[in-house]
Amino acid sequence: MTTRRRTAILISGRGSNMAAIIEAARAADYPAEIILVGSNNADAAGLEKAIAANIPTFAIGQKGFESREAFDRAVNEKLVAAKVELVVLAGFMRILSPWFCDTWKGRLLNIHPSLLPKYKGLDTHQRAIDAGDKVHGCTVHFVTPDLDDGPTIMQAEVPILTNDTADTLAARVLVEELRIYPLAVAAVACGKVRWP
Ligand code: GRF
Repeated sequence: MTTRRRTAILISGRGSNMAAIIEAARAADYPAEIILVGSNNADAAGLEKAIAANIPTFAIGQKGFESREAFDRAVNEKLVAAKVELVVLAGFMRILSPWFCDTWKGRLLNIHPSLLPKYKGLDTHQRAIDAGDKVHGCTVHFVTPDLDDGPTIMQAEVPILTNDTADTLAARVLVEELRIYPLAVAAVACGKVRWP
């Protein structure tokens, strides 16, 4: 088979999207190989899942860096040392510096729990309910320096039901996140979707 793209996943928390991508990448014909998982939070539960899957991990705490870019450069060193080709943000709760976004332009993906361009930022589920929306969903996109911006790679919709809370809606959206993120990573890794 052709060479698989060397892929890192960056997380901050439970890592369910990460786990879905790791699972998909177990297939021999999946075009990305997950070679590294990194976090800005040493206590992220997802790190344990990555270790259990025999994937090398690193954690870099956010304290002690003089700037956002200085932290990003420390992360970048880990990525470069591992010869990473593709970076997947999966619940990585940090705004990345323009320098990092430019360095990885076209090779940096994120998933956001809304139908972008609606509801950038936090509390997306409650905001969709409060707005009276009938549909909500998630978006995988290329990352640019602007928050939750950048070209869309894939989206999935879910209905908003009349008795939904932010939690019930988040759970319905998460099912779709775990379905489309592995598909979107594969589409970029094999070159089917490119940007720029
Ligand atoms: C997901 O809902 C993702 O869309 C958002 O943060 C959450 C991360 O969940 N950016 P997990 O860590 O993948 O379980």
